[in-house]
Parts: sequence; structure tokens; C-alpha cells
Amino acid sequence: MASNTPQNFRVYGKPGSGDYGSSMGEQNTASIDVRKEKILDIVDTIPMRDKGRVFTIGDYGTADGFVSIPLIGDIIGRVRQRQGNIPVQVMYEDQPTNDFGSLFKRVYGLIPVPRTYLKDFSDVYVAATAAGFYQPVMPPESADVIFSFLAVQYLSKPATKFQDSFHRYPNATPEESRLVAAQAAIDWETFLLLRAKELKSGGILAVSMPADDPQKRVKGLRHCVQNPEEDMLKMWRRMRDEGKITQEEFVDTNFHRCCRYLEECTAPFTESNSAVTKAGLQLIDAELVYLPSMAHLRWRERLEKEGVDDRESWARTVIGQHRCWSNWNFIRALSNTRSSDEKEALVDELYERLEREAVETNPEEYLNDSLLAFVFARKV
Ligand SMILES: C[S@@+](CC[C@H](N)C(=O)[O-])C[C@H]1O[C@@H](n2cnc3c(N)ncnc32)[C@H](O)[C@@H]1O
Repeated sequence: MASNTPQNFRVYGKPGSGDYGSSMGEQNTASIDVRKEKILDIVDTIPMRDKGRVFTIGDYGTADGFVSIPLIGDIIGRVRQRQGNIPVQVMYEDQPTNDFGSLFKRVYGLIPVPRTYLKDFSDVYVAATAAGFYQPVMPPESADVIFSFLAVQYLSKPATKFQDSFHRYPNATPEESRLVAAQAAIDWETFLLLRAKELKSGGILAVSMPADDPQKRVKGLRHCVQNPEEDMLKMWRRMRDEGKITQEEFVDTNFHRCCRYLEECTAPFTESNSAVTKAGLQLIDAELVYLPSMAHLRWRERLEKEGVDDRESWARTVIGQHRCWSNWNFIRALSNTRSSDEKEALVDELYERLEREAVETNPEEYLNDSLLAFVFARKV
């Protein structure tokens, strides 16, 4: 089935150069590592019934594969311990505009970081699809493990036009919040029903996404990477008020995503008459998980060990990470009466200002921690 041209995500950087992993890789690998043992323990429960079958792993919304390569290697290791030299198929999935060049370079070792599992295991077959995860991706009952990290917050289509916020957090109106919650619920159920079809009986699904938690149950955190998100909005408003961008361009700057509440993640499994449960997908566990900012930890370690308070490289790293995923949303919103150079200069200015402001901030007071919702499910 043809997909619409994806509007929700484009990596900032040069295609084929691994820019996603280079800027987001450290933080996002940590955001898998924080629950890696749990994922592997659940993988250990997948039944290995038929000799000679193929073990199939799907990574949906993979970007350039950086963060999942080590996990895939670990899964293959665990599966081979139980089932000898079973052939393994890895299916990478993302959108047509994804940087698949970088993905293949990483998986086949042309970009050698992280070490690819293909160096350690033979009889592993790699393929990729750009179906988009709101469409069928793999044939029915073909997958043993499907995971998707930090991707399902992106919605299949814009839910509304936020007038004074980029998405639900922090300043959506009640009506905007209602509309985006409704679209996010439809998309999440669609995603789960599709995966229920694709998984073999006994297969597992592991999903993480950036979360929002009005109840602030984990370390008092309200939202994943709270300060950078708030600062981007404040700075873009300031640039509008200074006349650098128009009000129309400001309102056109929307992130087509929804950072769900934990209860929104579990609802399709728990509501009465659940279509997802009827499709055979059962919740194993769902939880909110805290993860500190790795850039912050490195800054603090250097300060404590060497007495060096290097706020410049901390700010550069942090703003670079957030530019990687958010840049496209600003470029896309700027009027086509502007040249590409003009658009790029305005967006450069946004991030330069954010970096200058961050340097003046105390990293200890800057909430860049991740708040993640993890969902684990099994196809019965
Ligand atoms: C923030 S990145 C996450 C990448 C990686 N999984 C990680 O953990 O760092 C989000 C990814 O989701 C992809 N994505 C967004 N919407 C998608 C869709 N409808 N179908 C497939 N991939 C999608 C984007 O293209 C992007 O590669």
C-alpha cells in the first residue's frame, strides 16, 4: 500500500553519514539499555517449537539502526543459545524518507560504530522496508520479536493545528488536547492490531515512547526532555515577537506527535471488549521509566574528576541532540516565499540562540532527563 509523504520526521544532517546515531545514539542506546535485560528475559520465553524454522526480528522506526544493533546482537546470542544455529531474519522498518543509506552502512560495517552483529553471527538475513508502521509491514504470523523504540509518538496524520504549542505539552488548549489524544488512541490501536497479526503465537512486542505524566509519578518529572521542549517553544515565540518569523509560520510549527500518558498506552489492552486482546495480544507489563541525560552525567563526571565545568560542550551536545529530531519541524513550517537559504538561516539562529542560552544555565537545574513509557506484550 502506498504511504503518504511523511511529514512528521526527518533527521537533521547529511544522508548517508550516520548523523542520527552520531547525535542521538548515546542517549537513545541508554534508553534501550535501561530495560535491555527485561527484553532479553522476555525473549527467552518465546517458544522454540519447530526445528528448522526461521527466527524473525522486526525493528520498526529504526532510523539508522544505531541504537538497536547491539540489542539485535544480544537477541541473536540468546536465541542461538537455546536453538543452536537457527537462521535469523532481521527486518528493519521506517518511512520512505528515512536515511536507509546510513542504516545499511552501519549494519554492514561501513560505518563501524556500533559493532555490527553481522561480524559475530552468520546465517543472519537483513532486509528493510519503508512501509510505515501504520500499514502492514510483515506477513501474518511471521515475526518472533517486534520492537519499536521512541517512534510511535509520531502520528499517522496531523490531529489538529496547535495555536500556541508545538504539541500537547506544554500549552495545548483543552480542545487541541482532546483531538490529539483521540488521534493518538486510534494510531496506537492500529499499530497494536497490525503487530498482533504479524506476530507468531508466543511472539513478543516491546515498545518504548517518550511519555507525559501529569501526575509526575517518577522523580517529579512531568514530560520527557521537558526543558529543551519548553525552550524551543519559548524561543520560537520570541523570534515571532521580534518579527523574524510570522504568526502564520509560528502556528504552522506543529510536531505531529503525542507523548502519551501511561494509561493511554495500556488502554487498548484493558478496556472492555478490547479489539487488541481479541486479536490475541496480551499485555505483559507497562511502566514509566526514568533515564538521566547522558550529556549531563558526562558533564558532572568531568567536573567532579577533573574540576572542569565544560558547559560549552554540554550545551552543544544537548542542543545538537534535540536539533537532530526537531529541525525539520521548523524548516517545514517556514513560508515557501522564503528561499531555502533564508529558512536555514532562521532555523540556525533558533538553535544558536538555544545553545547560547543553555550555556548560561546550570546543567543541574536543566530538566533534560528522559521519561519513557515501556509496553511489553505477547501474542497468545
Ligand atoms: C526518534 S526516531 C527513533 C529511532 C530509533 N528507534 C531510536 O530508538 O533512536 C523516530 C523514528 O520513527 C520513524 N517514524 C515516524 N513515523 C513513522 C511511521 N509512521 N512508520 C515508520 N517509522 C516512523 C522516523 O522516521 C524515525 O526514524
